[in-house]
Amino acid sequence: MTHSEIVEKAVIFVKATLKNAEGGHDWFHIKRVFVNAIQIAKEEKVNVLVVSLAALLHDIADSKFHNGDENLGPQLAGEFLASLNMAPDLTRHVLKIIENISFKNSFSSSKGAPFTSLELQVVQDADRLDAMGAIGIARAFNYGGFMNRAIYDPEIMPKLNMTKEEYKRSNAPTINHFYEKLLLLKDRMNTVTGKKLAKERHQFMLDFLEQFYKECGNS
Ligand code: ADP
Ligand code: NI
Repeated sequence: MTHSEIVEKAVIFVKATLKNAEGGHDWFHIKRVFVNAIQIAKEEKVNVLVVSLAALLHDIADSKFHNGDENLGPQLAGEFLASLNMAPDLTRHVLKIIENISFKNSFSSSKGAPFTSLELQVVQDADRLDAMGAIGIARAFNYGGFMNRAIYDPEIMPKLNMTKEEYKRSNAPTINHFYEKLLLLKDRMNTVTGKKLAKERHQFMLDFLEQFYKECGNS
C-alpha cells in the first residue's frame, strides 16, 4: 500500500468512528489537526506517515467521552493499524503519540517521564492550535454546552495548579477553561512553526475576553 492509500483508509475509518461525536471533537477537528500537522511537519525532519496517522487517530475514543477510559483510544487505533498490517515499529510509535498527546497528561500526577518524539511534538502542536483562536473559543463553548456548564460565573474562580484528577472532574464555567488551559498553550508549543502560529490565536482569545468582560459590565 502507498502512504496515500494508508492515509485514505484511515480517513474513512476515523470519519465512520466519529459520526456522532461532540462538535468540538468530531471529524472536522481531526481534519483541522491533520492540516496543521502537515503544515508544521514541512519545517521538521519527521516521519510524515507517523505524523499523519497519529493526527488522524488521536481522538477516536477520547477518554472524557468514555467514562475516563484512557486505554480505549490506543486499543482501537492499534486494532485498526493491525488490520492494515502496518510495521510494528510504526504502530508502536503512533500508539505512543496517542497515549501521550493529551494536555491532561502534562499534569503532575502523570506516572514517570512521559514519552516524547519529534513526531509527537508536531501532532501535539497541531492539536493545541485547534484549542486556540476562534476555533478554540467555539470548541470550548460547545463542550461547555454539551456538559451543561455555565458560560461565566464571577463567583467561581479559575483554579491553577490542579491535579490531573481535579482537572478531569472539573465542572467549572467555560470561561475558567481559558485560564486553566487555553491561555497556557502558547508557552507550551514545541516547534518553531507551532509557536509562530499560536501567537495570533492567543491574541485573538485575549481580545475576545476583553470584549466579553466589557459586555458583562465588569471592565
Ligand atoms: P486534551 O484532550 O488535550 O486533554 P481537553 O480534554 O482539555 O484536552 O480538551 C480538548 C478541547 O475540549 C479543549 O480545547 C476545549 O475546547 C474542550 N474542553 C475540554 N475541557 C473543557 C472544559 N472544562 N471547558 C470547556 N471546554 C473544554
Ligand atoms: Ni484533539
